Amino acid sequence: MRILAIAGSLRAGSYNAALARAAAELAPAGVEVELFDGLGDLPLFDSDLEGEEHASVLRLRDRIAAADALFVATPEYNGSIPGVLKNAIDWASRPRSDAALQGKSVAIAGASPGQYGALWAIQDLRRVLGIAGARVVDGELSVPRAHELVDASGELSSDAMRSRLRNLLSALVEDSLPAQLAA
Ligand code: FNR
Repeated sequence: MRILAIAGSLRAGSYNAALARAAAELAPAGVEVELFDGLGDLPLFDSDLEGEEHASVLRLRDRIAAADALFVATPEYNGSIPGVLKNAIDWASRPRSDAALQGKSVAIAGASPGQYGALWAIQDLRRVLGIAGARVVDGELSVPRAHELVDASGELSSDAMRSRLRNLLSALVEDSLPAQLAA
């Protein structure tokens, strides 16, 4: 089984990228987690470009299609998800009849240095992915005060958060099993 992990931040020291790396470390045995790092290469979504998509868009769709499930970690910008992440979701939601996101199991998380742990962004991400056709698993990981829980080497150092992330990934694997058996 393969999970594609996407962090919705382009920042080198991103706490959400730290969550994606932690997911690779904490996934159940036998599950391979691949990190997607191409959000910054995507052009801005434009319906006029549909049918002649940029190679970066095709790569995003291929990687999502090839994965059995997704793990998405979002920052919160002004109370919602960052534009780069929304842009990627818009591209991956098209063409609607054959979208890479259609029916895909997704687990979501968010990290913020603030006390609310990107909760608004997590809520919006759940709604946006659901409308785009994905199956978002119940539960999520919210990481408040991320600067205290991610260490200087960029590793998620909180045992409590690592345990919650492990549980979330187990739920994701369980949720995506029926789709895998049917494939
Ligand atoms: C933020 N930040 C932020 N944090 C938060 O908890 N709620 C918010 O609404 C916002 N808004 C916001 C807007 C903009 C434009 C920026 C640049 C930042 C702070 C944000 O959580 C912080 O920069 C995180 O470190 C971003 O996530 P990464 O890059 O560490 O993954």
